[in-house]
Amino acid sequence: MKIFVKKGKLQDIKSQAVILALFQDQKELTGTALLIDQACKGLITEFINNGDFTGKPSQISVIYTRGAIPAQRITLVGLGKKSEINLEKIRTAFSKVMQHLRSLNIKEAATSIDLNMLSEKEDKIVQAVVEGAILGLYQYTAYKTVGREDIREMEQFNIIAEGEKYSVVESAVKIARIIAGGVYLARDLISAPSNEMTPSVMAQKAGEIARRKNVTCKVLDRAKMKKMEMNALLGVASGSNEEPRFIILEYSGSSKSAAPVVLVGKGLTFDSGGISIKPAEKMDEMKSDMSGGAAVMATIMVAADLRLPLNIIGLIPATENMPSGTAYKPGDILKSYSGKTIEIVNTDAEGRLILADALAYASKYKPVAIIDVATLTGACIIALGDDLIGMLGTDEKLKSEINKAARTTGEFVWELPLWESYSELIKSDIADYKNSGGRAASTITAAAFLSKFVGDFPWVHLDIAGPAWCGKDKSYIPKGASGVAVRLLTEYLRNCTHK
Ligand code: BES
Ligand code: MN
Ligand code: ZN
Repeated sequence: MKIFVKKGKLQDIKSQAVILALFQDQKELTGTALLIDQACKGLITEFINNGDFTGKPSQISVIYTRGAIPAQRITLVGLGKKSEINLEKIRTAFSKVMQHLRSLNIKEAATSIDLNMLSEKEDKIVQAVVEGAILGLYQYTAYKTVGREDIREMEQFNIIAEGEKYSVVESAVKIARIIAGGVYLARDLISAPSNEMTPSVMAQKAGEIARRKNVTCKVLDRAKMKKMEMNALLGVASGSNEEPRFIILEYSGSSKSAAPVVLVGKGLTFDSGGISIKPAEKMDEMKSDMSGGAAVMATIMVAADLRLPLNIIGLIPATENMPSGTAYKPGDILKSYSGKTIEIVNTDAEGRLILADALAYASKYKPVAIIDVATLTGACIIALGDDLIGMLGTDEKLKSEINKAARTTGEFVWELPLWESYSELIKSDIADYKNSGGRAASTITAAAFLSKFVGDFPWVHLDIAGPAWCGKDKSYIPKGASGVAVRLLTEYLRNCTHK
């Protein structure tokens, strides 16, 4: 969908549908809505007074203008009560109205954004409108060959800004498009089936991101990893015929000497569980076990496109986890890249193994912060549900910065305790650690395990097992891959540069 920012007034614009977002308890129309209502001889007022439209969240009414204004239709969308408005409600309203217009086979819509809608900064409001509109329209159609002619697509979204607000709106729209583009990339990578989205294809996609200015990509193959003794990652990869890859994306937006932020993303392109094989039900969804890696790749792309003034490293260990005659087995002991030894008690606890090597590798950058993102534990879904990201870490400041970014983006995090006592559960009798502490508190013991491989740097672990994959449509996240953490990481990184 193309997005244009145009100078002018919405009531003068020729459009298939102009969108007006209205509050539920709005007694009288104001601003653009009032001007359009007057031009249409009270059409909107009549609609509201007769109770057809109340403005409750995401309620939609489409009204024909019959030539009263150049636009063919007025589309009202409810924002809910003014006292309860927030960025998330704006994103939701605009995703819903765009989805509705697309279902009517409308190709173009126009709106003007009320920049006083809530007390947030004006650019955040514009960003929410555009992100909501774009993100809600996502559809993954690459493998549909039958009935392609029925696929509907919105082609154009025009945002009409008054003269003096034009530059604020234009720059916020540009930022929102870049960020939403990152979410689309992550969703595409995750939605692709694992027979196509292999570790080598992920590496290839990373190479494409690195065609940008200031981004480089290095890829380690099995032989190189062997030389470097990344045996935890290699252990997981040993059961698969797919070659593993360790992907290193480097974005330099600041001076060479500036210590970077390191982002680490779990890149399990398919998690069968290995010898400790998973049940068949929903195993297909385990193609999404590279959601963390996809989020990290997309975030690096976004950071480069936004030209953020800081250095960022993305580390994505990528492999399949498969059972076979060469697969690693329960009881095996692996010597990780850090030198620490790990007893395997469950081959399905593979994410922490590949992350262990990547987190240890991160030390070489002497980073200001390390954030890892992973679909790490089913227990996180049991504890927090499908919507929340589990957050654990060692640095209070970093945790609070991520929490702040989470509240802005609506990609909410909830902290779980990472107390010393949990480390007892992952002690091994014969090696340094074991890779599973059993069922109790397994999101926490997984993080405790990771902590053993992080050097002395501020670190936060984000368990995205819940929100990475949506079983049903959620406002601006259509069913399937959500692309979660791209907006969260981007917001965190943008805030880093405002200090
Ligand atoms: N990738 C899974 C976690 C997962 C499960 C993510 C369901 C999304 C949905 C991970 O590798 C895994 O299998 N974890 C095990 C760990 C256990 C064996 C200690 C789990 O959570 O059951
Ligand atoms: Mn697993
Ligand atoms: Zn996994």
